[in-house]
Amino acid sequence: MKEENSSEPLLYDEEDTSYATWKESQMFSSSSRIRKSFVLWVINFFTSLCSAIFLLFLLAFFCPQFLVYCLQNMPGSEAEYAYKHFPLRDDIRWVKLPGDPEYWSNMLYMGEASPESDMAWNELIRRHGFRALDSEAQRLNLTSSLPLEKGGMSASLGVDHNLHCLRHFKQWYFKDYYYANKTEEDLAWIEGHTLHCLETLRKSVMCFPDLNLSPYYMDPGEPHHPTHISTWGVKQCVDYDMLNRGLDGRRYPRSEYPEEVKELLDAANRG
Ligand SMILES: *[C@@H]1O[C@H](CO)[C@@H](O)[C@H](O)[C@H]1NC(C)=O
Ligand SMILES: *[C@@H]1O[C@H](CO)[C@@H](O)[C@H](O)[C@H]1NC(C)=O
Repeated sequence: MKEENSSEPLLYDEEDTSYATWKESQMFSSSSRIRKSFVLWVINFFTSLCSAIFLLFLLAFFCPQFLVYCLQNMPGSEAEYAYKHFPLRDDIRWVKLPGDPEYWSNMLYMGEASPESDMAWNELIRRHGFRALDSEAQRLNLTSSLPLEKGGMSASLGVDHNLHCLRHFKQWYFKDYYYANKTEEDLAWIEGHTLHCLETLRKSVMCFPDLNLSPYYMDPGEPHHPTHISTWGVKQCVDYDMLNRGLDGRRYPRSEYPEEVKELLDAANRG
């Protein structure tokens, strides 16, 4: 009795089907099975790949915003990468602002010196200092900073420093108003500080370039400055109010500084 090639014989028939020929036939049939399943796998793979590409095309065609949203929100996308080291990443939200011709004309900040303007600027930089947790201080090399009484390390946040410097420029610009009673020596020191602020701002502006685009317009009525930049371009900005609310949890009072620091600060304020 002859066995089917593919089925295992119960007993090897020495005369008819040697073990070797059986084994050979087995090998043949199993390698053809492997070939067959490989071909099937390749067909399946390419069918799935084509379906995925086709779906992506459909999505890109009918709902490109969704694709853009997915790409922008992928972990490690540029929007987040910008603030990779900042501890409160969940408080960073980018918002898209429409063009606005009033974008650069808030008289409260750019106008003449006045108590109202002072209050507005003070409100912007009322609180400064950021409490870095010990692990963050290690990671960001802040461990040489001033320790805080209730834990963590004090750190200065770049945007706070920049705003402080901008206000300083405004005060230097209106120095008759702000520094009327200063001595020559005070004024020399303030001028030096103002120039330090200029360099701080230059570095910051280049470290973190503002990549928003604005259109130009021509103004033939102004021979000294015939082309201007308008503020009609769409802008992408960090939601500053949201960031500020997040920062509230990391601000600290001056009273948390070490005693000798507080004494020096008090003495400087009295001067
Ligand atoms: C960390 O800060 C110290 C000063 O406190 C400095 O000497 C050192 O080079 C800094 N390390 C890095 C990696 O920046
Ligand atoms: C300068 O001194 C005068 C007179 O003491 C005072 O009225 C004025 O408020 C002072 N100005 C500033 C900017 O401190």
